[in-house]
This record gives sequence, C-alpha cells and structure tokens, in this order.
Amino acid sequence: METLEELRTYVKSQLQDDTTGHDFAHIERVVSLAETIAKQTDGVNEKIVITAAYLHDVIDDKLVDDVDTQKASVQTKLKSLAYTDAEIDAVMDIITHMSYSANLVHQYALSIDGQIVQDADRLDAIGAIGVARAMYFGGHFGDAIYDPTQTPRQNMNKSEYRKHTTVINHFYEKLFKLPNLMNTSAAKEIATKRQKFMQEFVNEFIDEWRGIH
Ligand code: ADP
Ligand code: NI
Repeated sequence: METLEELRTYVKSQLQDDTTGHDFAHIERVVSLAETIAKQTDGVNEKIVITAAYLHDVIDDKLVDDVDTQKASVQTKLKSLAYTDAEIDAVMDIITHMSYSANLVHQYALSIDGQIVQDADRLDAIGAIGVARAMYFGGHFGDAIYDPTQTPRQNMNKSEYRKHTTVINHFYEKLFKLPNLMNTSAAKEIATKRQKFMQEFVNEFIDEWRGIH
C-alpha cells in the first residue's frame, strides 16, 4: 500500500537520530510482531494496528520536546494520507496511552488494536533483543551495568521510573514483569520463550559477577 510507504518515510525521518534503542529498526520489528499477533487475534482492524505500530514512538515524551506539536503533526500527516477522523482518533488514542510509563499507576483500557501494538512493543523489550536494548539504553544514559548494593525498586510512579539505577535492576523493575502483562494469548506465547532466555542471561551474569564459574 502506497500510504504505508509514505508513513514509513515519515516515521523514519522522525526517528533517524535516536541512539536509545527507539530507532527505526525497533519500529519495523514492532510492526512485524503486531502483524503476527493480529493474524492470531479476532476483531482486529489491521490498518489501525499497523499505523499505530509505525507511529507509536513518534510522540514519546522521552524522544520529543514538544509532545502536543508532535501530535498535531502526526494528525496532519494522517489527514494528508486520507485517513478518516475516526481512524485518526483510534490511532491517537493508542499511541497516547500505550506506553509502559503511562500505565504504571492506572492501567488504561486500550482497544484490541491498541492491545496488540502494546504487546508487540513489549515483546521487543524482552528476549535477546531486550537484553541488547537495555544495555544500549543504559550506556546512552551512563548507567552502571550492575551494582549488587542497589536493590530493585517496586511500585514506581512515572517520575521515579524515569530515574535509572542499573541496567540489571531494570530487568527486575520492568522486563521480567512484561510476560504477565501481555494482553493477547499470541503475545504471551512468544513472551514465555523470551522470558526464559532473559532469565538465563541474568542468572549467568550474576554468577559470573560473583565469581562462580
Ligand atoms: P515506554 O516507552 O513504553 O514507557 P521505556 O522507554 O521504558 O518504555 O522502554 C523502552 C525501551 O528502553 C525498552 O527496551 C526498555 O527496556 C529500555 N529501557 C527503559 N528504561 C531503561 C532503563 N532504566 N535501563 C535500561 N533500559 C531501559
Ligand atoms: Ni517502542
């Protein structure tokens, strides 16, 4: 579809400078995972799923300074691509409310299309890719890889969550929780496999740190 090609170009230009693991390759993996989950789920509007998957990081307050201006730019772009007002509203509702940090205190009720995109985004934060992204993210912000004196935090609000401790803590504070938070059964299945790998990685890491060979 020509519309999707134009959407890809738009998103690519928006995210080209990202060095925190929210780059365009992340977007393409999320689109592909969302397509896979959508095929195994009932009642899906595939156009909304794919569009929201492409746009899900473009209005993130971690990545852009002025979220409202960026939202308006996304809406203008979709209008120029002949999306209806109802379609634009559906996409904006998803990308505004799906992030992990936006759901720490109260869980927002996403549409089924939104639940799929949220699952796809969360799947790309776990498994081998998840390990790589967490290390890359921590490196970008100058966080320590590990410090056994720093206990993982629980029940954080958004501003606490934004303050980093160590990359290994991030596994306990967020990544290990994601498989249980998946909305769809298709995503849960993929998450179970990725969780196992991630747990093995962290166990092995801590053994090596402690000098257990
Ligand atoms: P969201 O955009 O849904 O609020 P995040 O920005 O928290 O989610 O997560 C996006 C990616 O950045 C994930 O791969 C996540 O593991 C990584 N990440 C976020 N916070 C940290 C952190 N403190 N340490 C390491 N990786 C992190
Ligand atoms: Ni994302």
